[in-house]
Amino acid sequence: MDAPRRIENLQTDRGRIPVYATGTVEQPWAGYGAQDHATWRQLFARQRALLPGRASAAFLRAQAAMRMSPDAIPRFDDLNDALAGTTGFRIVGVEGLLPELDFFDHLANRRFPVTWWIRRPEQVDYIEEPDLFHDLFGHVPLLMDPVFADYLQAFGRGGVKAHALGPDALMCLARLYWYTVEFGLVREDDGLRIYGSGIVSSSGESVHALESDAPNRIAFDLERVMRTRYRIDTYQKTYFVIDGFEQLMQATEPDFTPIYARLAAQDAFPAGTVRDDDRVYHRGSREGWASDGDV
Ligand code: PHE
Ligand code: CO
Repeated sequence: MDAPRRIENLQTDRGRIPVYATGTVEQPWAGYGAQDHATWRQLFARQRALLPGRASAAFLRAQAAMRMSPDAIPRFDDLNDALAGTTGFRIVGVEGLLPELDFFDHLANRRFPVTWWIRRPEQVDYIEEPDLFHDLFGHVPLLMDPVFADYLQAFGRGGVKAHALGPDALMCLARLYWYTVEFGLVREDDGLRIYGSGIVSSSGESVHALESDAPNRIAFDLERVMRTRYRIDTYQKTYFVIDGFEQLMQATEPDFTPIYARLAAQDAFPAGTVRDDDRVYHRGSREGWASDGDV
């Protein structure tokens, strides 16, 4: 496999973050080696075994409809054929994490950027930045879901707007993305399920998010989520639970501009906070929690 074209490491308030070329790239499918396909197969098999009874019905339905191959790294073109007939979302290859505005612009135009390279064998249990497995296995299936696809597009449009408003607005939106798209839980008739891509693409967090006593599980509330800091280097201390993607669409329909203005004057909550007015599904035991490091 070729090496990703990393430009530089930027020191930010979230630590050192790799910055990549922002252009889209053709997936270099013929350049994947046997090890790359084996890594895909191994991670795919492990996650597929964990998801029944844990992943949301919407995720499992979307994943089945998309028919990704477990045997080899899927071709983006094939996945785009499946998407073209459903939501019209399209995936585009990228080198890695994008600057916020580039990312929002893709979503607003119903494109989802997917990292073209897959992690190395020694990174199968943990990788600190999104790779092809996280993006394809975790994010891309739900692009088949009509309501979720509309939510992502609305999010992209909202992101372009927030970017113009400034860093406070962007921070609120980043928290919303984190606690829904990346680490969201959904309540189904027979219990809580995972749909966030950061959970469904992680074997450890797939179990932790639902079965551990440590984290809080709290009903989704837009402003509560926008005020809550999060973890990027450990399992989440708190998961927010939606009733379904329609709820996300409804909650995000209002103009956020006055909400951003109001929240900018208020303190953010630490990641593990439980508030008196929270609707709590589970109050975390806090076992194993790091005492600092929320972003
Ligand atoms: N309603 C939001 C706004 O006015 C846009 C948005 C939609 C943001 C969906 C996030 C998710 O900014
Ligand atoms: Co992600």
